[in-house]
Amino acid sequence: MGKYITSIVYAVAVILLAACGSPSSGTSGNGKWQSFSGDKRIEQRVDSVLKLMTLEEKIGQMTQFSANWSITGPVMSDDFQPYLEKGLIGSIFNATSVEGIRRMQQIAVEETRLGIPILFGQDVIHGYKTIFPIPLAEACSWDLEMMQRTAEIAAIEAASDGINWTFAPMVDIGRDARWGRVMEGAGEDPYLGSKVAEARVLGFQGGRDVNSLRELTTLLATGKHLAAYGAAESGRDYNTAELSEHTLRNVYLPPYRAAHEAGVGTFMASFNEINGVPATADQWLMTEVLRNEWGFKGFVVSDYTGVNELVPHGVAKDEKHAAELAVNAGIDMDMTGATFIKHLTESVKEGKVSEKSIDTAVRRILEMKFLLGLFDDPYRYLDEERAKQNTMTPEFMKTARKAVSSSVVLLKNDNQVLPVTKESGKTVALIGPLMNDSINLNGEWAGLGDRNKSVPILKGLTEKYEGSTVRLIYAEGASITETTPAKIAEAVAAARRADIVVAAMGEDFNWSGEAAVRTDIRLPEPQRELLRALKETGKPVVLVTLSGRPLDLSWEDETMDAILQAWFPGTQGGYGIADVIAGDYNPSGRLVMSFPRNVGQIPIYYNQKNTGRPVDLNNESVDYKSNYLDTSITPLYPFGYGLSYTTFEISNAQIDKKTLKTEDDKITVTANVRNAGEVDGEIVVQLYTRQLVASVTRPVKELKGFQKVALQAGKSKQVTFELASGDLAFYGIDMQKKTEPGNMKLWVAQHAADNSNEIDFWIE
Ligand code: NOJ
Repeated sequence: MGKYITSIVYAVAVILLAACGSPSSGTSGNGKWQSFSGDKRIEQRVDSVLKLMTLEEKIGQMTQFSANWSITGPVMSDDFQPYLEKGLIGSIFNATSVEGIRRMQQIAVEETRLGIPILFGQDVIHGYKTIFPIPLAEACSWDLEMMQRTAEIAAIEAASDGINWTFAPMVDIGRDARWGRVMEGAGEDPYLGSKVAEARVLGFQGGRDVNSLRELTTLLATGKHLAAYGAAESGRDYNTAELSEHTLRNVYLPPYRAAHEAGVGTFMASFNEINGVPATADQWLMTEVLRNEWGFKGFVVSDYTGVNELVPHGVAKDEKHAAELAVNAGIDMDMTGATFIKHLTESVKEGKVSEKSIDTAVRRILEMKFLLGLFDDPYRYLDEERAKQNTMTPEFMKTARKAVSSSVVLLKNDNQVLPVTKESGKTVALIGPLMNDSINLNGEWAGLGDRNKSVPILKGLTEKYEGSTVRLIYAEGASITETTPAKIAEAVAAARRADIVVAAMGEDFNWSGEAAVRTDIRLPEPQRELLRALKETGKPVVLVTLSGRPLDLSWEDETMDAILQAWFPGTQGGYGIADVIAGDYNPSGRLVMSFPRNVGQIPIYYNQKNTGRPVDLNNESVDYKSNYLDTSITPLYPFGYGLSYTTFEISNAQIDKKTLKTEDDKITVTANVRNAGEVDGEIVVQLYTRQLVASVTRPVKELKGFQKVALQAGKSKQVTFELASGDLAFYGIDMQKKTEPGNMKLWVAQHAADNSNEIDFWIE
């Protein structure tokens, strides 16, 4: 019967479609509907379906439910089946089995009046089954191609399992290491963040062409969380963001905009308020900026119960009011809160929300379903055989392993204690709570990744040194939060028998991610107690840190011989880290967030302002300057920093001309890069600029370009950057984006605190 009705509906739709001369464009508070694809045929098909829908069915399309308990919160409407059966659901997320998805899709398509297929969403953040390093780690590779590929692989795996839509990439700028969600982003820099946002969108969606969404290997992506979710005061999740429009536009918005320019199909509103207006109710942000200014034509989903939360935020008197505020602001879909489906029919009748706004939102959602091919075959993403073939393949494993080794950042390496080569003949004591751990390796937001399948570092190292001259001894020494004298004694005994200690320490995986904020970002005291005891043996100690955020490693920096920041590396963690420790991969990762000297320096970021009383870094103790009494103003490790097993030199930086016009002009920057050491390696050459005088204060440095260059030992290469006037544009005093005349400096550098290759130039 259901099938019969469905076919009648499709027949009617087709007749209407044929009859349709030109697409009707809905006008609404949110403006005229312009399709995302610009494809007239799809617009006609969307309209042909819309015309068949009742108001309630339309609002149903704007409703999303979660299939089960989710890690991000209680499920509001676990009883969503009645809505499903009435055709009142547009999307479901957290549905994690092919059979489950098939059954739900069947109900929607074959047992409802109109048979509109469901869009299945999921948080596919850093992998689906093959888990890649956490996004913050991947960004440290500065390898955009690799990041695009890992997003592609995540899409291939998830799309084979019936998922059509990922809530990624998260592109929030992270300047506060206390905030647990820095693990999901690309760090503190708007330029790098924008490049990474672009790479990830292209990876998930299969390129810039909207038709790639039809491929069975791609996912619709989501730029999230719009906006400035990372600017939460005190790093406390969901907290208020209070920031100027200049900072919002110059620092926080660029990565979202880059996601849009890469063709992202959806955005997710952030939970936080910005300057007194919760993003979910922010008409200026969601409509004026996102749609009218940028021209975004996809759809916007709220975050999880984000609409309901307008009530505790204090801008809505009840959930009906909240639904009205959200939809009038430009939110097209309510994630799990059920406010739209419960209240908007009445709101439309009362004239508080126009039916045209509803039509516009529904068109945007239906269009994505057409683009994904769901109207042609709602089951097209469900294929157990393809899922088997496309899961954790050898190629995916290889990419994941490379992703691990290129994300690891070598922070310290005194006396070249690393690498421990296979020929070294050393005995190595392997210690620490994260040495033989697989559970934590995947980090938070690990999709459907099987935590038991991740390769522990111990396993990676054991296989690496098998049959070599290196001997390994293992003792745990401590758990993440506890130790005992006996455990420490066992670890110390192992260290005494060894030539070198490698200790894998760090955080539990759920100490970062959503609602995972720490005010003390040091290693837990029992782990430091263990490190102290190990150090007292007099043996060199290599600390491998696993964490979802920059930690305060000041004490470790003073005491350890080497520090390797390995983040949460995912499925192939142990293998990728072993490649670095043994020197089979020369570390090339560079930090994308500054590491503070202590939590009191946070927020700390390289692109800070100068202030009227800048500190002379050669004489930080002078009074009445913008400094601290008890520590330096500099970070422990700056943005862009990371060591290699070789050393690099940058010299002879030059520009082809000293002045640049404000428009349509460019300068060419060149520099010589040399691998001055004895092993091959990769350097991330970074181009920074500073505008010394402008209509508003400008950062002391801004990244404007980078190149990851592989160089054989002893070899040199000239690198070239083109710097166009437009690259130096910013939102000035009149809040217009343009390039202003002024004195400039640029640096071709190894990291943000490297001033060695400095050049003056002018914009006129
Ligand atoms: C809340 C998170 O903020 C968001 O990033 C995520 O996509 C949703 N929950 C769904 O899990």
